[in-house]
Amino acid sequence: MIYPIYVYGSSVLREDARDVPQDYPELKQLVADMFETMYASSGVGLAAPQIGKPLRLFVVDASIYADEEPSLADFKRAFINPEIVEESETGVVMSEGCLSLPGLNEDVLRPESIRIRYMDEDFNEREEELDGFAARVVQHEYDHLEGIVFTDRLSPIRKTLIRSKLNAMGKGRFSAKYKTRQEK
Ligand code: NI
Repeated sequence: MIYPIYVYGSSVLREDARDVPQDYPELKQLVADMFETMYASSGVGLAAPQIGKPLRLFVVDASIYADEEPSLADFKRAFINPEIVEESETGVVMSEGCLSLPGLNEDVLRPESIRIRYMDEDFNEREEELDGFAARVVQHEYDHLEGIVFTDRLSPIRKTLIRSKLNAMGKGRFSAKYKTRQEK
């Protein structure tokens, strides 16, 4: 099932997501639906709050970038109840976009590498170190679980420059090639 994607201005994007209980009903179906929704909108990551569910869960599939970064070939995962346990002091700037902020791309500074602990779909605990594009996508999605969107991380001057665009988006003036929803 393809879910509509909640757009900037929706209150669910600003909530602190709650842990997914191990007995959450139809969790595997939800994960499968999130992958389907992400592919349908050509995204490489999607967090549960973006489909209106304030849960600590996100999916990523960056395998389309394997040509540039071979290690991404199998970088397809569901992250349940993740915690970033370490981040590098070195930062790196990369351009980001977000399905919940259609039409916006901005350079964002974030740690270059991270260590993350999470549960997989079978609720097995996993821990891994990520860098490059994988670390980037995961940090972006992780922010969604804390009610943060990437524009929150821009410099004050960039924020000022895009303020009118964001205000318009928050009022429903945006266009996207996928199904969206906006709920205050
Ligand atoms: Ni996003």
